[in-house]
Amino acid sequence: MANKYDEAFEKSIKDPEAFWAEAAEDCHWYKKWDKVLDDSNTPFYRWFVGGEINSCYNALDYHIENGRGDQAALIYDSPVTDTIKKYTYTELRDEVAKFAGVLVDQGVQKGDRVILYMPMIPEAAIAMLACARIGAVHSVVFGGFAAKELATRIEDAKPKVMVSASCGIEVKKVIKYKPLLDEAIELSSSKPEKCVIFQRPMETASMVTGRDVDWSEAMARAKPHDCVPLAATDPLYILYTSGTTGEPKGIVRDNGGHVVSLKWTMNAIYNVDAGDVYWAASDVGWVVGHSYIVYGPLFKGCTTILFEGKPVGTPDAGVFWRVISEHEVNALFTAPTAFRAIKREDPNAELMKNYDLSSFKCLFLAGERSDPDTLQWAENSLKVPVIDHWWQTETGWAICANCMGLHQFPVKHGSPTKAAPGWDVQVVDADCKQVKAGDIGALVVKLPLPPGSLPTLYQNDARYKESYLDEFPGYYKTADAGYIDEEGYVYVMSRTDDIINVAGHRLSTGAMEEVLSDHSDVAECAVLGVEDNLKGQIPVGFMVLKAGVTRPNEEIVKEVVKMVRERIGPVAAFKTATVVNRLPKTRSGKILRGTIQKIADNKDYKVPATIDDPSVLGELEETLISIGYAKARKE
Ligand code: COA
Ligand code: AMP
Repeated sequence: MANKYDEAFEKSIKDPEAFWAEAAEDCHWYKKWDKVLDDSNTPFYRWFVGGEINSCYNALDYHIENGRGDQAALIYDSPVTDTIKKYTYTELRDEVAKFAGVLVDQGVQKGDRVILYMPMIPEAAIAMLACARIGAVHSVVFGGFAAKELATRIEDAKPKVMVSASCGIEVKKVIKYKPLLDEAIELSSSKPEKCVIFQRPMETASMVTGRDVDWSEAMARAKPHDCVPLAATDPLYILYTSGTTGEPKGIVRDNGGHVVSLKWTMNAIYNVDAGDVYWAASDVGWVVGHSYIVYGPLFKGCTTILFEGKPVGTPDAGVFWRVISEHEVNALFTAPTAFRAIKREDPNAELMKNYDLSSFKCLFLAGERSDPDTLQWAENSLKVPVIDHWWQTETGWAICANCMGLHQFPVKHGSPTKAAPGWDVQVVDADCKQVKAGDIGALVVKLPLPPGSLPTLYQNDARYKESYLDEFPGYYKTADAGYIDEEGYVYVMSRTDDIINVAGHRLSTGAMEEVLSDHSDVAECAVLGVEDNLKGQIPVGFMVLKAGVTRPNEEIVKEVVKMVRERIGPVAAFKTATVVNRLPKTRSGKILRGTIQKIADNKDYKVPATIDDPSVLGELEETLISIGYAKARKE
């Protein structure tokens, strides 16, 4: 007999319009859509065309009008500042409405872009929702990115206003944000008219007269602003993510499809309802933060947790259990790397015993491949289901999951279970032909993508098409490789491009190579993601120096490490680079990155038939051993 998942999946693929129209009935619309799916301009698809909606209304006002005004909407838990602050739905709406007024006072209008460069404080969520309230398009930039990366995003999004804070706190370090903001604006040819700065008590930022506005002073003057009806297809936000070059991709999210899909996922995937407490331990700078710290839980009427801390060191590896117990969290979503960090510090989960975790029902993991060891450790210590699910910034929500609110399938370690309703996932070969069950190929999704996924890249339809749609006509290319087994379980094995996942953070090795190549002594280079016990992968750089360079290698290594930190940011965790005499290449001059990676990861490799000079591999292996990667391989 078909279960609820099978029924939902089948309907979503056979009759997506009916499936999503039904889900949309659960949301507030000023005006219902004329057409559920507009496919008149393929390969571009638009959902809920003609509909009018407001994301902030659906996240806040709707719940107040439906009796949830006094329920906690957001709990800010910050072990790094020793603060816990709760906002009811009414309190959060009032703050958001007032900040919407601040934005309007600064000249922000519907369609204007507002860049947010914020630490994990409630004001970040308030600013996002305030933009949504007035139809401004927010673009949040993760705080661990350097000024140069921020500048690239300013250049592309051309924000009218920027919102930032005086500092972030990384465990015990106070990271000054304002000098980075000022430098980024300096570097960019596009300049925001105003910057609204939230001054935190641990650091006072110096203000630029005429441009900078103090958050608290502006709030004191502002009048609350109401929600503005927006077209379902109007953009809600742009979120930049790593592409294969130094130019990040501006992922666009629309309003209508986003509200409908995220609200639907809260029960179907996460098995939570209005009133439940949901915690995504991520950062508002990432898609997980957008979808599941801010929007999804609030669309559903849940209580969301905004956590300013780390899984370890704030103050210890028991902090996740403290938060779950103190706020009676029902579902936690985080990256496997967080659990690897906890497991490393507290292998027997002793600290867990200090807390009452009876509220806790399920752990969800995503952002990188879940290694079976960590997954089992979490299962054994928490004694709740541990659900791996697979998604991307582009998709906005899970492509594959064990949909806990529909039907719980047996977990197979290493697989994020099955395609979620809406996602027609297939595995194809280079000729776009479906391969048989168990065979590895490119993971693709048959178009149209469901609501909530990217309609395009910001002001760049051509790059959207070229990056995602051209290689496999009729399909969306996920750029992940994997396979589907006989039972329909999907396995996501690796990226097919040069994106790596460092502690769940998505980074481009291509962008790092661009930085290394800019060093005046570097002739050529390769940056690869090498396996790491804690972060999953970390970048390692290989450089061939220009002829005649006599400076000590260590000096050059130090300089390139500093350059990556300054240009991309500390989040890149680029700490290892080495000088080599040669890089393995094909006869046509292409660097054999795959082979270098296999050697570094101590995996078996075949000497590629196209290699120019096989002796370079032995040389490389020795270098890798000398810096702590690879192990001597017996013949
Ligand atoms: N602002 C400024 N700097 C930041 C930052 C921020 N928001 N976030 C990270 N950084 C800095 C860190 O301070 C660190 O700098 P350092 O080189 O001076 O030490 C660097 O960027 C790397 O940070 P991080 O990736 O957090 O590594 P870590 O070694 O400090 O901690 C983990 C390791 C595993 C504990 C941590 O990565 C973690 O909590 N991961 C969870 C993953 C996650 O939430 N992913 C989101 C997708 S779901
Ligand atoms: P991001 O856009 O930062 O969310 O990163 C998306 C990429 O992370 C995907 O394309 C995958 O390579 C990887 N990823 C995310 N979730 C998973 C998962 N559950 N299993 C394997 N890889 C994952």
